[in-house]
Amino acid sequence: MKLGAYDFLRKPIGMESVKLVVERAIERKSLVDENRYLHKQLEDTFSFSRIIGKSKKMRDLYALLRKIAPTKTTVLIQGESGTGKEVVAKTIHYSSPRKNKRFIAINCGGVPETLLESELFGHTKGAFTGADRTKQGLFEAAEGGTIFLDEINTAPLSTQVKLLRVIEESAFIPVGAIKEITVDVRIMASSNIDLNKELSSGTFRKDLFYRLNVVRIFLPALRERREDIPLLADHFLQKFCREQKKTVRGFTPEVVEWFLRHDWPGNVRELENAIEHAVTLCSDDIIQVGDLPTSITSPTPEAGLSAIKFPFKKAKETFEKEYIVDILKANGGNVAKSARMAQIARQNLHEKIKRYGINAKEYASA
Ligand SMILES: Nc1ncnc2c1ncn2[C@@H]1O[C@H](COP(=O)(O)OP(=O)(O)OP(=O)(O)O)[C@@H](O)[C@H]1O
Ligand SMILES: [Mg+2]
Repeated sequence: MKLGAYDFLRKPIGMESVKLVVERAIERKSLVDENRYLHKQLEDTFSFSRIIGKSKKMRDLYALLRKIAPTKTTVLIQGESGTGKEVVAKTIHYSSPRKNKRFIAINCGGVPETLLESELFGHTKGAFTGADRTKQGLFEAAEGGTIFLDEINTAPLSTQVKLLRVIEESAFIPVGAIKEITVDVRIMASSNIDLNKELSSGTFRKDLFYRLNVVRIFLPALRERREDIPLLADHFLQKFCREQKKTVRGFTPEVVEWFLRHDWPGNVRELENAIEHAVTLCSDDIIQVGDLPTSITSPTPEAGLSAIKFPFKKAKETFEKEYIVDILKANGGNVAKSARMAQIARQNLHEKIKRYGINAKEYASA
């Protein structure tokens, strides 16, 4: 069996058992094939060719990625929200010798402070109230692979000390344990704010920063590489056409103009969402301005456009959306209060909030 046999037959051999064994072997073979196929697919998804962009900034990035991917170097990825930090981290992993081991991402801000340490390093049974069994941490689960500490700036100082130790010694002690565990894990981290500023305010440890900062990748905002917009737009158009089984051949020149003019505060993610929205609404074989989300075609003073350039319906919707956002801001995201101020029924306001895809919670007073 150990030499690669799938099964064995007991004598005397009956036709039924031969059939069963052959069937089992075929099933197993196809599972192995499928596994190989899935792995190959994952690799393809994160080969460099999946990071779209031909601007100088992106070409410099590819050159850097090619150099650091084969190594075990710690990498710190900085960039605004939606600039592709996670895509880059995955790309590095799947282009590295570690690609057959796991890539584990954890959002340090997405886990309550008290749980982050046990998530990362695991805990022993009884280490704290509620720890009713021993749990393996993500560092152990990522053995031989890569761990991506997303939004590392949100990690509390106590966890930062432990992270520093893992980087320096490749070792850590699970919560409540005595014995140290040694691991071989590549560490990557991301931050959407400038960590240098956190250093002076004392919320981020200097020693950890310097350890993480062996190679720092700055991902440019989309507005700093506008020449990549048409390329990305085409890429996402194809993606959503495939997903939605639609045939849309492109964008009107006016749409491209809006794309090039917009500031993209949400970067590539915002562009991706805008195109998904447009493909969904598009009833023609070309994306028109009317298919775009109003957030992109809102007349902004900077763009020097006036609302009269819009059809009445679009102008009204644009105004309505801005009005609702302003009133929510003024009321700290409280829908009931906002409805009272606007003198409309709460239900009515709820419907509008939903229709325009507004997230009232975003305006909750901190
Ligand atoms: N250069 C790129 N080429 C193709 N797709 C990209 C590129 N950059 C980002 N994307 C896509 O944009 C979306 C956002 O990317 P990602 O999640 O990596 O951003 P992020 O920087 O981690 O954002 P956040 O700070 O909000 O977590 C993803 O769907 C990703 O596939
Ligand atoms: Mg991210």
